[in-house]
Amino acid sequence: MPKFRILVIDDEAAIRDSLRMTLEYEGYECILAATGPEGLTLADRELPDLVLLDVKMPGMDGLEVLERLRAAHETLPVIVVSGHGTISTAVEATKKGAFDFIEKPFASDRVLLSLRHALDQRQLRDENRTLKRAVEVRHQMIGDSAALRSVMTAIGKAAPTNATVLIQGESGVGKELVARTIHRNSLRSRERFVQVNCAAIPEELIESELFGHEKGSFTGATEKQTGKFEQADRGTIFLDEVGDMSPKTQAKVLRVLQEGEVERLGSARTIKVDVRVIAATNKNLEEEIEKGNFREDLYFRLAVIPIYVPPLRERPEDVPLLVRHYMDYFCRESNARPRRITNAAMEALSRYRWKGNIRELRNTVERMMIMAPGDTIDLPDLPGAVRTPGATTGGRVAAPAHAVSGASEAVAPGTLREFKDNAERAFLVQKLREHGWNISKTAEVIDTPRSNLYKKLEQYQISQESDG
Ligand SMILES: Nc1ncnc2c1ncn2[C@@H]1O[C@H](COP(=O)(O)OP(=O)(O)OP(=O)(O)O)[C@@H](O)[C@H]1O
Ligand SMILES: [Mg+2]
Repeated sequence: MPKFRILVIDDEAAIRDSLRMTLEYEGYECILAATGPEGLTLADRELPDLVLLDVKMPGMDGLEVLERLRAAHETLPVIVVSGHGTISTAVEATKKGAFDFIEKPFASDRVLLSLRHALDQRQLRDENRTLKRAVEVRHQMIGDSAALRSVMTAIGKAAPTNATVLIQGESGVGKELVARTIHRNSLRSRERFVQVNCAAIPEELIESELFGHEKGSFTGATEKQTGKFEQADRGTIFLDEVGDMSPKTQAKVLRVLQEGEVERLGSARTIKVDVRVIAATNKNLEEEIEKGNFREDLYFRLAVIPIYVPPLRERPEDVPLLVRHYMDYFCRESNARPRRITNAAMEALSRYRWKGNIRELRNTVERMMIMAPGDTIDLPDLPGAVRTPGATTGGRVAAPAHAVSGASEAVAPGTLREFKDNAERAFLVQKLREHGWNISKTAEVIDTPRSNLYKKLEQYQISQESDG
C-alpha cells in the first residue's frame, strides 16, 4: 500500500506540528507550508494526495489558495480548516470545491475521518477511470485501411437504426467487436447487449436458452428461466455463429423476428419483446442456403444490413497499427517495460498471412512480449512461421518427426518420450481450440503459467495457422 502524502498549509506553527504528529502517527507522509504561495509551490512540486488548508492566513488567504489549487490540480481533494468558522466561509469553501470544512479547534479524529473519506473517494474515482479506459481500449477498432474504414462507415450507418445486421467474415477478423461497436453507438447503448453463441449450446438446450421455459416444461426444467430474447428486451441480442443453428431453431427465430414476440417452452402465453438483432457467422451463408442448411427467408430477415469484415491478409497496412496497439496493451496489462520493434520484424509481420486473423496477431504479439529477452523485438523473436513464411505450410502433418519433440533432440519413433510429447501436443492443441486460441484463458484452464504455455507452443511448433 503506497503511503499517502498530505500537504498541510497553515500559518500557525503549533497547528502544523500537531497535525504532522497526528498524520505521521497514522502512517501518512506529511509536507508542511506556512503560507499560501509556499503551499502552491509544494503542491506543484510534491504532488500530494490531499491538502489540509487553513483559511485565515496573512498574505494570500485560504480561499484564494483553494481556487488556485482547484485550477491547477483538478482532482486533488482539499479539506478546509478554519478557526473563524462562520457558516458563510464554509459555504464559500464548498462552492469553490473544498471536499470538507472543519472548524478549529478540531478533534484529530474528525480530521482523520474526513481525510480517509476524501482519499477513498479519490481512489475509487481513479479506479473507475482506469476501468473505463480499459473497457474503451478493449473495444477500440484499430486500423486505417480502406477496407476497415468502409466497415466503420457501415457501422456508423447501421448503429442509429433498428435494422437487423448480419456480420460475415473469417474467424478472428473482429465480428464480435463490430457487433459491440454497433450496440455501443446505438440508441440502445444504455440497455443490455446479450450474446448467444449458437454453436456452443447443445441442440436440445438452445430453444430454452433463447426463449426461456416454464418450470417443469421438460425433464430437468426445475426452475422457470427467462430466455435471452426476454433478457435483451429494449437492448440488443447478438446471435453469434448463427450459421450453426438447427433448422428447427431457425424457424423459431424467424418467428420472433417476424412477430416481435416470444413464447417460453411450456407456456402458451406470448411475450412482446423489443429487441434488435445482430447476427454473425464465419460460414458463407449463401453457400449454406444452396446446400439446404440455412433458411433463405431467415437470411433475408437477418441481412437487412450486411457487413463483411475482410481478412487481415487483405489489409496488411493495418498490421503495424495493430502490432503497436497490442504491444502497448500487453505492456500496460502486465506492467512490463516498453519494447521497440525493428523495421525488419514489422515487415515480416506485415507479410505474414494471418489465417487466424487479428486473434492470431494478438496472440503472437502477447507471446513476443513474454518471450523476447531484450528491449527491442527483432526477427529472431518472431515465431518461426512468421519469420519464414511457407516453411510450415502444411502444418504439423508435413513437419518432420523431430520437430514435434523440439529441435535439439531428435527422438527415434516409438520411444516413450515421443509418445509423451505427442500426447502433450495433442492435448494442448485440443485445449487451445476449445478456448478459441485464447492463450491466457487456456493457460488458466490447464493451470499452467502463460509463459510455460508459450514455451510449449514454441517447442512443439503449435500455431493457430497450422493447428487451428
Ligand atoms: N480492428 C481491430 N482492432 C483491434 N482489435 C481487434 C480488431 N478486430 C478484432 N480485434 C480483436 O481480435 C480478437 C478477435 O476478434 P473477434 O472475437 O471480434 O473476432 P470474430 O470475428 O468474432 O472471431 P470468431 O469468428 O472466431 O468468433 C478480439 O480480441 C478483438 O478484440
Ligand atoms: Mg466471434
